[in-house]
This record gives sequence, structure tokens and C-alpha cells, in this order.
Amino acid sequence: MKTKKLIIDEREKKYLLKNKVNEFGNDLGVINISDKPLGTAIKSHNGHEFYLVEPTTYDIIKKMKRSVTTLLPKDIGMIIAYCGIEDGETVVEAGTGSAALTIYLANAVGKNGKVITYEKRADAAKIARTNLEIVGAVKENQKIIGIDEEEQTESEKEEIIETNEIKESGLCNVIQKIGDITEGIEETNIDVLVLDMPDPWNVVEHAKKALNPSKGRIAMYVPYIEQAKKGVEALKERGFLDILTVECIVRNMDISEKGVRPSTRMVGHTGYITVARVRPQQEPEQEQEQL
Ligand SMILES: C[S@@+](CC[C@H](N)C(=O)[O-])C[C@H]1O[C@@H](n2cnc3c(N)ncnc32)[C@H](O)[C@@H]1O
Repeated sequence: MKTKKLIIDEREKKYLLKNKVNEFGNDLGVINISDKPLGTAIKSHNGHEFYLVEPTTYDIIKKMKRSVTTLLPKDIGMIIAYCGIEDGETVVEAGTGSAALTIYLANAVGKNGKVITYEKRADAAKIARTNLEIVGAVKENQKIIGIDEEEQTESEKEEIIETNEIKESGLCNVIQKIGDITEGIEETNIDVLVLDMPDPWNVVEHAKKALNPSKGRIAMYVPYIEQAKKGVEALKERGFLDILTVECIVRNMDISEKGVRPSTRMVGHTGYITVARVRPQQEPEQEQEQL
């Protein structure tokens, strides 16, 4: 369950509030929202209209705290669509950053799936946890593997993973980890590996072993074309299939009575997305026969 509600005023200014807040006010007046259900229009004491609604994931992500720049919806949409990420899948992601991508991945795999997200910076992981809590992708104060349990034993680690897997009222399908993914991926048989980090080519060898051979896919997002090239070369060297690199440019449209035209301001370049599929390995006996 989301821990926030949204107020939109007559000018379409948006305010994200904690669920327990009972009163709201701005220059258009004060409203009492204590007993009002979501989806209500409320008049302020001086006659202006406010709308109390449920925030979308996008509303929350636009207003949440950031440790690093987040991926934009256009790029997130492309990653989910090209990888064909579905309900019930297991996704491993790095790095978590502010968790914008993580939140959409969690929505895509749903309650039957899970997202295990690696981040090497503890400060970023903690900010991400707050953001994940707001949308119900983790439980309140959920343990981040590697920070809260510095001295944990193996059996304690297993216990944390099990606890994290308990599905609560929200999706609660994200597991956060502190770790450098270039040093290895602990999970095996994963369906999709999503990398938003500067050197994804250093993860491709681990990806080859960790991905489910029947359907494992990988996605890399990088801002520079030289990085995209290094990523593709690493994928080719390790025999990945269906390699595709794309850039997504979005133009907003201004639609008014005067006419319709592209917005004069736009986000130009953000990054390149490369997706690919892991090549199934030959059985050892087959290899012998061929020799
Ligand atoms: C651009 S940000 C990710 C933003 C995120 N996708 C979002 O939408 O909020 C890149 C993150 O990757 C982390 N990172 C970089 N290299 C890493 C590695 N080898 N293992 C784990 N995390 C890494 C960085 O600390 C940083 O937080």
C-alpha cells in the first residue's frame, strides 16, 4: 500500500502528503481531509477546489528524494518492453540509485515475482529504501542485506531473505543488497538482469552464469555511445543472442486553441539501452561428441 496521498489544486499544482496528515493549506485556502476518501473534490474555506486522490507511481517518483539521477519513464518503459519483463519473474538489478527503476520493475513482476537490487553505496541504498517504502515495495525499515547485518552468520542471512520474502499489504517484492555487482552475482537462474551503472561490461561474464538459460535476458543503460559499444562487445564475446541497442527520444506536444506544435523545450539525449538474450550452453557430452 502507498503511504502517501495526493492533493491537486485548481491550478493543477500537486502536493504529496503522508496518509496520516489531516489538514492541508496553501494560498488557495485550507481544507480538512481527515474523513475524506480518496477521489473527493473538496472546497477550501475561501471557495477554491482541491482534489484528494491516490498518487500514481510517477507522481511519487517525481517528488521523491534522490541520491543520484533517476532513469526517465521513457527509458524505463523501453527496458521493460524490450526485455518483456512479466508477472512472476525474478529480476536482478544494479545499481539501485534512488530506486525509480526498481519501483517500476517491482510493479512489472508483481507479487509473484521479485527484484533483487544491488547498490554499492550505503547512503544511496538507505534513501532508496525510503522511496521503496512509500510505494509498498519493501516493508517499513526492511533490512538491507550487507548494511544492517554486517556481522551476520550464514543462517541469519537466510532468515533475512525469508523475512524479506513475506508478502505484506503492498507488493513487498524487493530485496536490497549492498555489494559491487562486478564482483559477482549471488543469485542463479534469474530471468532478467538490468544494469544502470557506468561499467556494465564488467558484469557480462557473471550474467552468463547467473541467467536462466531458457529465457535469461540482460539490459544495460549507459549515457555514452563508447560505453554502449563496450557493452555490446562484451555481450558478443560471451555469445549473447538478439543484441539490440536503441535510443529513445520523446517530444512533448503543446496542444492549444492556437494550434498544435512540439514543445519548444525537450529532454534531448539521456542514454542508450542495449538488450540481449543469454545463449544456452551445450551439454558437456555434446561438446565431447563434437571433439
Ligand atoms: C545512475 S544510478 C542508478 C539510478 C537508478 N536506476 C534510478 O532510476 O534511480 C547508478 C547507481 O549505480 C551504483 N553502482 C555503480 N557501480 C556499481 C556496482 N558495480 N555495483 C553496484 N552498484 C553500482 C551507483 O552507486 C549509483 O547509485
